[in-house]
Amino acid sequence: MREALASAPGKVILFGEHFVVEGQPAIAVAVSLRARVAARPVDEPRITVSSANLGVQQDFDPQSPDRSSPLYPIAHAAVLTMEELGTRRGLQIRVNSSIPPAAGMGSSAAVAVATVRAVAAALGHDLEKERISRIAFEAEKLVHGKPSGIDNTVATYGGAIAYRRGEGFLELEVDFSPVSLVLADTGKPRRTGELVQRVLSLKAAFPQVLEPLYYAAGRLAVEAAKMMERGDFEAVGVLMNVNHGLLSAIGVSTAEIEQLVYAARQAGALGAKLTGAGGGGFIVALCRREDAGRVVSALERLSPRVLAVSVEKEGVRLES
Ligand code: MEV
Repeated sequence: MREALASAPGKVILFGEHFVVEGQPAIAVAVSLRARVAARPVDEPRITVSSANLGVQQDFDPQSPDRSSPLYPIAHAAVLTMEELGTRRGLQIRVNSSIPPAAGMGSSAAVAVATVRAVAAALGHDLEKERISRIAFEAEKLVHGKPSGIDNTVATYGGAIAYRRGEGFLELEVDFSPVSLVLADTGKPRRTGELVQRVLSLKAAFPQVLEPLYYAAGRLAVEAAKMMERGDFEAVGVLMNVNHGLLSAIGVSTAEIEQLVYAARQAGALGAKLTGAGGGGFIVALCRREDAGRVVSALERLSPRVLAVSVEKEGVRLES
């Protein structure tokens, strides 16, 4: 038993957030920002979690953990991993992530996935990806109630995936070299769980109106997957704009998001939409590589943080 370090990527949903929670297909890509988690067995029975990003450390008693702590989901992922392995140890866990939190980029899922991998390795076990993703999914339920499973799937497998709740995922074969993904922060954090619940309440109140929108979102994701694999990024951009319209219709856009989306389109992006739960967080713009600089400059005038990211092929990995 030793200290083990694992990492997992964040993600950007290109098509189908929210609609995926109710069984429609969605498309997401892993991006070149990673969460890193180190785990080390210790003699004391407690689990100590520290976060370099939050600048906090907390001890958890596995029998009666402080569930209100922002670090509790990490301790919970560690406990679930040990239950899966049929063992129980004290652990020291250190988290350091370059994925912006509460931004729609799958930071909590990437941390959960990397935690499961690091804890298993620290205890001398190798877990298959399917089990890592499943345990992280259980941990994610604590963070946002009714996750679809797309975030932990992308963090585990990397690349570009088409995902459908209950059915699993397909790896898409896409050559992203002609395009860039530019992300811009609204500067407003949001809570995924609350937004998911709000959308589900709207659907429950007006099922006749919302169901056709969900169906349209699903068709849109299927069509977009074809266009991506064909390399028709003009069409992908148009479909992203349509997808953004559907997300506005279900109430998860904001004035700040609209401003960034329109600025990106006016600066030459092929398409732009909110990504993740909405209500704040980031927008994603798809641009031809040669136009990315112009889109970045336009967004930098409005946003506190603009990131140009590439698609990351590799999912969870053991670093040491
Ligand atoms: C969050 O990244 C995406 C949502 O669709 C929720 C989920 O899929 O679990 C809003």
